[in-house]
Amino acid sequence: MASSFELLFISSLLFFSHFIVSSKGQGLPPLVKGLSWTFFDSTCPNLESIVRKRLEKVFKDDIGQAAGLLRLHFHDCFVQGCDGSVMLDGSAGGPSEKTAIPNQTLRKESFKIIEDLRERVHKECGRIVSCSDIAALAARDAVVLTGGPNYVVPLGRRDGLNFATESATLDNLVPPTANTTTLLTRLATKGFDATDVVALSGAHTIGISHCTSFTERLYPNQDATMDKTFGNNLKRSCPKVDSNSTVNMDFRSPNVFDNKYYVDLMNRQGLFTSDQDLYTDKRTRRIVTSFGTDQKVFFDKFVIAMIKMGQLNVSTGRQGEIRAKCSVTNKGKLLADVVEGLDKTLAAAF
Ligand code: HEM
Repeated sequence: MASSFELLFISSLLFFSHFIVSSKGQGLPPLVKGLSWTFFDSTCPNLESIVRKRLEKVFKDDIGQAAGLLRLHFHDCFVQGCDGSVMLDGSAGGPSEKTAIPNQTLRKESFKIIEDLRERVHKECGRIVSCSDIAALAARDAVVLTGGPNYVVPLGRRDGLNFATESATLDNLVPPTANTTTLLTRLATKGFDATDVVALSGAHTIGISHCTSFTERLYPNQDATMDKTFGNNLKRSCPKVDSNSTVNMDFRSPNVFDNKYYVDLMNRQGLFTSDQDLYTDKRTRRIVTSFGTDQKVFFDKFVIAMIKMGQLNVSTGRQGEIRAKCSVTNKGKLLADVVEGLDKTLAAAF
């Protein structure tokens, strides 16, 4: 029989091994090579609190910015991986990732907020944290500070050296007119299953949409899968197919990260075809219902899907760079600084 000392020893071993495993993300998707749960623990220990504290203030002034930051991280990761490419200003040479149609409705403030966070972080820790890592942390904080689940963010991403073409951007971001078949097939190519797809779509529990993203469901005829009263209310907010205004995406609780988006879908009050069809389609209907009736189930699956999304095709190690300004590569910045210097010298000479 084991002595009480041995039992104590074994149970303490179990306790500590559990602690170590769960502190490294037990039950969460595996880390991709090069990312780590503790990447800046010794080199920039205040990183997460710098981001969190600043965003608390930003959201206190305007809670809508949370939705903008969450969407920015999604658009970053789906196109060319989470490499900050969506933040790069395009060249004069033609349409770029940032100016592609789906990115035109990203909030201008979101880019400014990330740049401001970068400045604060680099001031304290030096140029060691990438714009893409900052965007991933900001998205997590957007979820937490609007009432959603907290989760650990794998860090160590490097920023990309170029942005995607307009057509690559369109190929990777599904339009709101897509049905579930399209969503499931296109997201499966990135490693997402049906549960991930339904969970990720739950991000539409916060934020706004422009009328033009859904008015094809109202005019000339109202989509038969849409609740009549809900449709009539939308028509009042968007009187024409090309109305320029915006509406809340989850009218039940537009600024709270909760499971009401799924309650909307169950009541045929989803905004986009890509949302509502998740309830119409047999393959995803049960997942919608399970999230709509149990918020914890949604939160758990959302965290898994977000951690997966945040690791899509990341650059790590010696790949890419850590940008000194999120909207421009370091080479581009160097060139711009030289030109600016020359301009000043010339201006002083004449
Ligand atoms: C899966 C397919 C998806 C489609 C078709 C889609 C489509 C859209 C569209 C059309 C808008 C409104 C844009 C506008 O008119 O202003 C929007 C907003 C938004 N999306 Fe998605 N989205 C999808 C997935 C996601 C994911 C995965 C996330 C994040 C994890 C996300 C987060 C958001 C947020 C937070 C907003 C509101 C942004 C704001 O208020 O500024 N979406 N989405």
